[in-house]
Amino acid sequence: KKILVLNGPNLNLLGTREPAQYGHTTLADVEAMCKETGERLGYEVECFQSNWEGALLDKVHEAGQAFRDGTLLGVVINPGALTHTSIALHDAIKGVGDLPVIEIHISNVHARESFRHHSYVSPAAAGIVVGFGVTGYILAMEGLVRKLQG
Ligand code: DQA
Repeated sequence: KKILVLNGPNLNLLGTREPAQYGHTTLADVEAMCKETGERLGYEVECFQSNWEGALLDKVHEAGQAFRDGTLLGVVINPGALTHTSIALHDAIKGVGDLPVIEIHISNVHARESFRHHSYVSPAAAGIVVGFGVTGYILAMEGLVRKLQG
């Protein structure tokens, strides 16, 4: 079975983007870390990043089908700024039914600008990890596995 790790807009810039907020770890490092975590937990990991909202929606739709087919455990997603803007992403996650989605943010969005305090994704998420830096991806994957194993 697989876990899908999705990253939204600007997360391809990790490592050099606002290091005070997001640290020095690159997206390639994060994805390698997720693959290692998957191996440890007994799951294959697919990683996908896009700056395009529609590409992420397509991935969520595909994930919904894979979940129904029994080949996907769930999704870990850092939606980037789409968190705060995308009703379409909210609808996509709701629209694919029971697909478990864990939302992760590297920074503590609640300690930042007020426009980052609201998330359209959270009401559709099975769990949320916020403010643990890139370690949050590991915590989100562990949380997903533990939650679904009961
Ligand atoms: C982020 C927080 C968002 O507010 C921001 O737009 C991002 C990254 C985070 O991981 O902390 O792109 O999702």
